[in-house]
Amino acid sequence: MDMNTPRFLQMISALVLILLSGSSMASASLKVGFYASTCPSAEEIVRTAVNKGVSQNPGIAAGLIRMHFHDCFVRGCEGSVLLASTPGNPIAERDHFANNPSLRGFEVIEEAKIQLEAACPETVSCADILAFAARDSALKVGGITYDVPSGRRDGRVSVADEVGQNLPGPTSNVDELVNRFAQKGLSADEMVTLSGAHSIGVSHCSAFSKRLYSFNDTFKQDPSMDSSYAETLKTQCPAPPATSDPTVSFDPSTPLRLDSKYYEGLIGHRGLLTSDQTLFATQSTREMVVSNANNGASWSEKFARAMVKMGSIEVLTGNSGEIRKHCSFVN
Ligand code: HEM
Ligand SMILES: *[C@@H]1O[C@H](CO)[C@@H](O)[C@H](O)[C@H]1NC(C)=O
Repeated sequence: MDMNTPRFLQMISALVLILLSGSSMASASLKVGFYASTCPSAEEIVRTAVNKGVSQNPGIAAGLIRMHFHDCFVRGCEGSVLLASTPGNPIAERDHFANNPSLRGFEVIEEAKIQLEAACPETVSCADILAFAARDSALKVGGITYDVPSGRRDGRVSVADEVGQNLPGPTSNVDELVNRFAQKGLSADEMVTLSGAHSIGVSHCSAFSKRLYSFNDTFKQDPSMDSSYAETLKTQCPAPPATSDPTVSFDPSTPLRLDSKYYEGLIGHRGLLTSDQTLFATQSTREMVVSNANNGASWSEKFARAMVKMGSIEVLTGNSGEIRKHCSFVN
C-alpha cells in the first residue's frame, strides 16, 4: 500500500478526527446510569426525597424544575445556584433577586444529599441531584418521563452578577428570549417548549404588575392581556405603591398540573408574564404556540427532550469540579 496516496491520507485524517472528537466527547459527555455501579440507589434516593417534598407541598415540583433551569443557564448545570453566600463571597447566585426569595425546593436537595452521603459518600454531585429532582418533579406533576444522563460535577464558583447576564427576564421580548436560549445552544422551538413549564407554579405580582397598572403612556393595562383576566389579577395584586408582593398561579385552572394548557392560555391572552404572552403575540413563535396547544402529547415529548438538552449545558465532567459534601458549600 502506498502511504502517500490521497486515499491513505484521507483515512488517516478521518481516524485522527474520530479520535479527537471521541476524546473531547468523553470529557463533555454524560451517561444514563452513571451511578449504576458506584451508587446504585442514587436515583431512587432522590426520587423518594422529591416525592416526600412534593407530597408535603405540591408547589415544590415547580420550584425544582425552575431551579434546574436557573442552575443550567448560569455557568452550566454545575450546582452553582445551590451555593450559599459566604463572607468571602457575599452575593452568590442564590441571593440574586431572580432567585431570592422566589426559588424554592432547596430543602429537598439537602435532604437527598444527606441520604446520599450516608449511602455512598462523596459520589453523587449536587448538580446531578438537581437534574434528577427536576425529572422526578416533571413525572410527579406532569406524568412526563425521561432518562437523565448523569455524571455532572459540582462547580466552586457562584456570582450573583452572572444571573442577570444569563437568565432572561419576565419583560423580555421574543428576540431577547431567543438570544438568551441560543447562547446556551437551545433553539427558539426549545425555548417555546420549555416555557410550557409555566403551566405550574406561581409568580410574584412584582414580575408582571406593570401590565395591570402602569403599562405605558397610552395604556394603563397591557392591551395584549385579556381584560377579565386582568381584572382578576388586580384583585390579587396590589396597585403601586405596593407594600406587599403576593404570588399568583401561572395557570389558575390547573396550577399543579404540568401540561400544554399553558399554550391555550396564551392563545386566550391569559399569559401571565410579558415573556409568556409575547410568544403568541410575535409572528415568529406564534405557530409553535398553536402547535403545542393542539398537540399535548407531542409537547410532552418535546419537553422531555428539551429538558435533557438543557441539562447538558456547559457541564463539568471527568476530573473537573468536585463532588460537594454539602450542596450549599464548596468542599
Ligand atoms: C423563557 C424565559 C423565562 C422567563 C423570563 C421566566 C421567568 C419566570 C418568572 C419571573 C417566574 C416567577 C418567579 C416568582 O416571582 O416567583 C418564573 C417562575 C417559574 N418558571 Fe420561569 N421563566 C422562563 C423560562 C422557564 C423555563 C425554561 C423553565 C423550566 C423549564 C421555567 C420554570 C418555571 C417554573 C416551574 C416557575 C414557577 C416556580 C414556582 O412556583 O416556584 N421557566 N419564571
Ligand atoms: C403602548 O403599548 C402599545 C401596545 O403594545 C403600543 O402599540 C404603543 O405604541 C405604546 N405606546 C407608547 C406611548 O409607548
